[in-house]
Amino acid sequence: MANTMKHHYARLRRPVTDETRAGVIEDFPEIELVPDKALGNLCVEAWSHSLCCSDYKRIRDIPPWGNPNGPILSKGSQTDHLRGVVRTTKVLAEEFEHSHPNVRIDWDVLMAGSVCHDVGKPYEFDPSNRARWQADPADSGSPTFRHSVFGMHVCLTVGLPEEVAHIAVGHSFEGLHMGVSAECMIVRQADHGWWHVAGALGLLEPATIGALPNNLRARNL
Ligand SMILES: [Fe+2]
Ligand SMILES: [Fe+2]
Repeated sequence: MANTMKHHYARLRRPVTDETRAGVIEDFPEIELVPDKALGNLCVEAWSHSLCCSDYKRIRDIPPWGNPNGPILSKGSQTDHLRGVVRTTKVLAEEFEHSHPNVRIDWDVLMAGSVCHDVGKPYEFDPSNRARWQADPADSGSPTFRHSVFGMHVCLTVGLPEEVAHIAVGHSFEGLHMGVSAECMIVRQADHGWWHVAGALGLLEPATIGALPNNLRARNL
């Protein structure tokens, strides 16, 4: 019997250009907070590569979803989440560094990891990928890779260190099946905390609150 399965290749759909990189820097100015500039440039490369593996041109074009089934912000774009998580990560780590000067934090890994934790979202949220997965989930899986897993692939592809790729794969549900680094744990708390607080303050689509802990009550805005 002929093999009628269609194979798909998650590669660049268009070349990465300086215009792509400039858009990443403009949409996500917190990349500047990565102390090591070479590492910061690799983060720009990771986001640029990831966008070009999808039909999204800019990070600001990515919808404000935590996951496709929620939580989902009522307004804004993915940049609101990404920028908020990087700033929250910084505040959280600074608190412990100031109150407990004996702790050790790798700030390069921490900030690059928070910048790249959701770098796989262009692939997982891409409309044509989602339509393909929904059409034949038993052929492709649905999704083939969640954003955490595709994000790890992107990080390693552009040459980011394993410690940063570890945060991409460990920041979400996958992190419950592995031991996570201290930096990954900080990013996890900043990321999950950001969604929980956004939900409590009434910033999420009410129908998507169910994706968050069931003790959460959303304040009316
Ligand atoms: Fe995520
Ligand atoms: Fe996130």
